[in-house]
Amino acid sequence: MTDLLSIADLQEGAVAEILALSERTDLGRPLEGKGVALVFQKPSARTRNSTEMAVVQLGGHPVYIQKEEVGIDTRESAEDVARTLACYHAIICARVMDHRHLVRMAGAVEVPVANLLSDRDHPFQALADLLTVKQLLGRLEGARIAWIGDADNNVARSLAQACVAVGAELTLASPDGYRLSDPPYGVRQVADPAEAVEGAEFVYTDVWVSMGQDEEAEARRQAFAAYQVNEALMARAGNAWFLHCLPARRGEEVTHAVMESPRSAVWRQAENRMHTARGALAWLAGVR
Ligand code: CP
Ligand code: NVA
Repeated sequence: MTDLLSIADLQEGAVAEILALSERTDLGRPLEGKGVALVFQKPSARTRNSTEMAVVQLGGHPVYIQKEEVGIDTRESAEDVARTLACYHAIICARVMDHRHLVRMAGAVEVPVANLLSDRDHPFQALADLLTVKQLLGRLEGARIAWIGDADNNVARSLAQACVAVGAELTLASPDGYRLSDPPYGVRQVADPAEAVEGAEFVYTDVWVSMGQDEEAEARRQAFAAYQVNEALMARAGNAWFLHCLPARRGEEVTHAVMESPRSAVWRQAENRMHTARGALAWLAGVR
């Protein structure tokens, strides 16, 4: 069974297949009578709601499970949690603190396991990001995207892998110590935000302090102080669209004015989380 733990694990062409399914309105009810487990070890607004509604739209029944209810590696092992959930569900989705838990869960069961965000990856987010770029630009091939800020986080990593998969051009701007540690071939990394946004059609940022990094908060805020996406940086980019996976910390990585500008596509991105979750779940259920 195919899993969706990381964009990099997918076979060639799979990202385009999922995006094509995400744009279709005739997928029917491939999950009719089936359950989908949604395990969350961290908070979520977009991912929980978009995935839950996507399951409903595909005719399935989502079961939202908080971390204490299953206790991955505390109440029972990650493998035993997965094997239990596989008794009832056609797909297991999980948001985890440690990506290795997902790998172990996927290794223990036959049903597909999907990553709803880990410390390493956020593949469902990257699918929504690409759909947003495609809608706004009309194509993905050659799309020019600049990422500003923490380039070694889950959202940046999945975006980099997704851009390479579809031929989009990604430049990551980050300070020393926060560069993407495993960049796929073709992704450019620079230090200067102004250099990254030169000629960009999209400017993307994410929080400076991701979930689970609270102890590093002060050091991170200092390191990223010159990496705020504000009106001056957007002006250097010309007429670029602004992207953010959300939640945003207005006044830190992005200003209120940029979030609210007519070129901000963040709510379209948020809506696209549901369409791409539907496409991804249908794909995992075998729809092509
Ligand atoms: N973008 C995103 O994953 O948002 P949530 O953390 O609210 O799910
Ligand atoms: N990088 C952020 C993304 C939230 C959707 C985090 O992991 O907290």
